Amino acid sequence: MKSTISYTSEVLRIEGGARLSGRVRVSGSKNATLPIIFATILTTQHCKIKDAPDLLDVENALELLRILGAEYQKEGNEILIDPSGVIKTSTPEDIVRKMRASILSMGPLLGRFRKARVSLPGGCSIGARPIDQHLKFFEKAGARVSVRGGFVNLEVNTKKPVEFTFDLITVTGTENALLYLASVEGQSTLKNVALEPEVMDLVHVLKKMGAEITLEGRELKIRGAEDLSGFNHRVIPDRIEAGTFLVAGSLSGYEIVIENVVSAHLKSVIEMLTQHGTHVSEEGMDSLRVTHNGSRKPLHIETSEYPGFPTDMQAQFCTMLSVTPGTSTVVENIFENRFQHISELNRMGANITIKGRKAFIRGVDQLWGATVNSTDLRASASLVLAGLIARGTTVVRDIYHLDRGYDKLEEKLKKLGAVIERLPEGQEI
Ligand code: EPU
Repeated sequence: MKSTISYTSEVLRIEGGARLSGRVRVSGSKNATLPIIFATILTTQHCKIKDAPDLLDVENALELLRILGAEYQKEGNEILIDPSGVIKTSTPEDIVRKMRASILSMGPLLGRFRKARVSLPGGCSIGARPIDQHLKFFEKAGARVSVRGGFVNLEVNTKKPVEFTFDLITVTGTENALLYLASVEGQSTLKNVALEPEVMDLVHVLKKMGAEITLEGRELKIRGAEDLSGFNHRVIPDRIEAGTFLVAGSLSGYEIVIENVVSAHLKSVIEMLTQHGTHVSEEGMDSLRVTHNGSRKPLHIETSEYPGFPTDMQAQFCTMLSVTPGTSTVVENIFENRFQHISELNRMGANITIKGRKAFIRGVDQLWGATVNSTDLRASASLVLAGLIARGTTVVRDIYHLDRGYDKLEEKLKKLGAVIERLPEGQEI
């Protein structure tokens, strides 16, 4: 089934002040689904991914697999992949530009074919985002690595186990290394790895495929195999989508129940919300109830690697803190340029100043509707949240960013009572 989402110039028009309440189901995780799609390159057997979100990034990852020679079918949120026809080892530039997670094809292509040619991603709006750690790992693993004409060329003659320590904690860096090592016989060790739940979901899949993997602290031991099998896997719920609805619930003040959540994945987010005065409680095995009916307290937040406070929730919290009395501070430690939503929030009446990596947020009584531009995925979400509580009409432009990572966000918000509409750009007035 072809997705209906595309890179068209559309906007979201939001009438602020609607009462949000009810139940909402969170989709499968984008950042877990993407590496799992690339893991299929490691086998020639059929693979089934369940609860995959309907997103542009997922479409792009599948398109890349198709270019490499795989076949796939999408039925609702289930993706069936037949990777037996993969013969190409080169990833074109246009697809990497659309989705930087395409760099996750390096590990499995090198693992299965001993060579890979992948377009080098440029920087992106949130930072320079180098991939030096990925390349340092491949070099240590014995691959010849060269960068020519905007492409990374990787080649390895004999695959050998390796011990490698990352200089810094990187999510896709850890995933690329895991994807390669799952195909390498003998025991390898990765130190200073990322522990994000999305990385652990990939570990789960690679184990289903036949790799032996153990984790102790920030150290992974991997014993790979040449012949990896297909898999059937349900991806974990999207913790950032769940976190975004938690903030929506806090802002709305009415009760929202968020279904399909692993609350352990949201520990740092829930801790911050609780400090803020938001009530979050578990309902059954996999749901969270959120409401707010008391005073709101300012916060000091610093983003860090999991299990710390996620950078992917920073923008949404900035919106919440912009209407929280007192002065809050937010330090962005992961990406050097992830404050672009601040100037847009200020256009809506927020009072936020930035000094280096720190934002000082002085709470105001009210945000006011305005036309604002999305600059990246999570910035877009923060502006939608702002629009929901602003007085008057907010128009959020360039929402293809949102479509990359939030599955049917406006439909879900509408069901909760939001007055929100998707319109072609130019027809929003
Ligand atoms: N870094 C390097 N060298 C490297 C790799 C990373 O200097 O070789 C730096 C980055 O520039 C950054 C920091 O290390 O300053 C952490 O980057 P990381 O590699 O962990 O980020 P990523 O793997 O590129 C993933 C998610 C991001 C999420 C970050 C941090 C995927 C596809 N992307 O990116 O998700 O913000 O981890 O948790 O998993 C999003 O979903 O909106 C998003 C941006």
